Amino acid sequence: IPSTSQDCWRPALHFTAERFWINDPNGLVFAGGQWHLFFQHNPQGNTWGHMSWGHAVSDDLLHWRHLPLAIPEDESHMAFSGSVVIDDRGSSGLGADGQAPFVAIYTACAQQPVRHQAQHLAFSSDGGVRWTQYAGNPVLDIGAQDFRDPKVFWHESSGRWVMVVVLPHERKASFYASPDLRHWSHLSDFGPAGGVEGIWECPDLISVPVQGQPGRRAWVLKVDAFEGHPTGGSGAQVFVGDFDGSRFRATQPARWVDHGSDFYAAICWAHVPAEDGRAVWLGWMNNHRYAAATPTQAWCGAMSIPRRLSVRDDAGALVLCQEPVAELATARRERWQCGPFALGAGGVDEVVRLGAGDVLDLEIAWRPGTATEFGLLLRCGGQEATRVGWDAERRALFVDRSLSGLGPDDPVYRLPQYAPLAPQADGRVVWRVLLDRCSVELFADGGAVVLTNLIFPSPESLELRAFVRGGSAELLSLECWALEA
Ligand code: FRU
Repeated sequence: IPSTSQDCWRPALHFTAERFWINDPNGLVFAGGQWHLFFQHNPQGNTWGHMSWGHAVSDDLLHWRHLPLAIPEDESHMAFSGSVVIDDRGSSGLGADGQAPFVAIYTACAQQPVRHQAQHLAFSSDGGVRWTQYAGNPVLDIGAQDFRDPKVFWHESSGRWVMVVVLPHERKASFYASPDLRHWSHLSDFGPAGGVEGIWECPDLISVPVQGQPGRRAWVLKVDAFEGHPTGGSGAQVFVGDFDGSRFRATQPARWVDHGSDFYAAICWAHVPAEDGRAVWLGWMNNHRYAAATPTQAWCGAMSIPRRLSVRDDAGALVLCQEPVAELATARRERWQCGPFALGAGGVDEVVRLGAGDVLDLEIAWRPGTATEFGLLLRCGGQEATRVGWDAERRALFVDRSLSGLGPDDPVYRLPQYAPLAPQADGRVVWRVLLDRCSVELFADGGAVVLTNLIFPSPESLELRAFVRGGSAELLSLECWALEA
């Protein structure tokens, strides 16, 4: 393995494997006071293959302790994506000594003699460290080549377990029910709908709190599409709707969750205690288009920052919002601020130095003037810079990675991305940046607008600058914290 001394892109606050490849988060579950993160992992190399479940735990969703490989591939199957529940009702009969077992339901993928995917069950009585394969596997097999990524949850009002799983090529999410996690019966299908250019993967049906209405929650069905995201490549879409325990019905048009290129396969943590009440998810911060071509050597793939979900009721339009979990504030150290000052007043394009750093949490507010574009240059140095700003003509937040460093040679990586963003009612344009060593996550409009992107700048490019182009703009305030793991 290459030494980690050249590991300039290893994130400070985003999850990576100790070494080697990861993709989707799996089996996110809160238990015993800890946030468990299982994940698609190749324990043998830095490319996709030998898919197994890695495992880590955290007290605060920021610092992760690596645990031994949880579910390895076996002679005939790889362990693809899936979920974990805590069987605290003893419904499965799989617990030892009356303890509530961890139950994982995931896709076992066989390639020989022909490709075959079915849902398998494994259980653990020691908090997810050691797992036993259920002797009656598979627990759900429809004889399909592609049938995967089961997400299981307890449905309170019908008093049974519900699974959502995808038929990727049909662009369908299928719902099943079970009294015991071992026997499953088909309920209904949803789809095709929304983005159908690419195959569907990694569904989740999430009960999300509605802002400002204590007790009200909305059902959100998320499915990923392998292709067809507006930036090109893969991405996540959501449908807000109703779920009656048997059938999901979308009541709002599909929306893409993230306007950046690198947010995929997100699922929510299960069994978050009622007193916490949050819906929290994270995603694989990557894109199927170029994941294999990203330049890190000792490890490959990182997770997004965990995000709290809420739904905002915009006069009847229910909009999913994502914000970094509040725990992130505990990583804030040195703080600085500046502004207000006017830029580009003489009609001359301007760039000013604001500071430096590679792990930052900042909020910036602008008052648009005559400028066609204004914003920030992140990780600047030499010819490098990642531009994040506001385009006045498009009225859109944008990210431009064309000079971000050593990115994959793919238009999905190099082309700028735009997310519609109107100035606030007070005329200001405001956004938050979460910068880590290989990523930029942008949040605006209360988390309704999010852009998640990988970057691979050289370690010397550390400056933070502001720019205006084609006229004037006022940088009203910048508030910035250096973050520390
Ligand atoms: C999504 C995915 C899943 C599958 C897993 C295999 O990234 O393709 O559909 O279960 O990765 O690693």
